[in-house]
Amino acid sequence: MIVACDENGAIGKDGDLPWRQSTDLKRFKSLTTGKTIVMGRKTWDSLPSALPNRRNIVMSRRQLENVEQMDFEEILDLKETEICIIGGGEIYRLFLPVTEKIEQTIIHTKVEEPDTWFPEIEGFDLINETYSEAGTNDDFPMTFRTWGRSVSP
Ligand SMILES: NC(=O)c1ccc[n+]([C@@H]2O[C@H](COP(=O)([O-])OP(=O)(O)OC[C@H]3O[C@@H](n4cnc5c(N)ncnc54)[C@H](OP(=O)(O)O)[C@@H]3O)[C@@H](O)[C@H]2O)c1
Repeated sequence: MIVACDENGAIGKDGDLPWRQSTDLKRFKSLTTGKTIVMGRKTWDSLPSALPNRRNIVMSRRQLENVEQMDFEEILDLKETEICIIGGGEIYRLFLPVTEKIEQTIIHTKVEEPDTWFPEIEGFDLINETYSEAGTNDDFPMTFRTWGRSVSP
């Protein structure tokens, strides 16, 4: 699972990302290129086109055109060793119970009147945390966190 959240866990506003973070988009690209990405129909609608060099899978309860569409069970049955869940809020909530690893970017801001949030992270251990100053094409500084599913006692 890959997500960028503000300091309150907000991820979206008005169908889009509420910030411009070039450094985080580069990280997203390097983490997902060559892999299978899964997204909800609303996130799909926010993109100009399919993300290149990745297998794009979209979830919807309606029949979509010109994109590969799967339901939850079909995605769980995929044979790929790594599937990247890229949002948005509904799809994060659906997949969090079966997620092994979360790549979370905290964007150091508090978005005004957001409308979409990441669910609470429970049952995961923080594996790594790296702070990054805002670059020239970033609105805010950010912290990259990697979470791994806690091993059951
Ligand atoms: N900050 C980040 O990292 C990040 C990442 C991704 C997205 N976002 C933001 O998040 C917002 C969108 O999130 P969202 O929660 O509104 O929408 P979403 O999760 O992208 O998509 C929701 C849609 O997915 C489909 N869906 C949901 N559950 C399903 C199921 N069980 N089976 C089949 N289809 C299912 C439905 O499509 P139909 O209505 O077509 O049936 C539903 O309307 C945007 O603002 C976007 O920019 C942020």
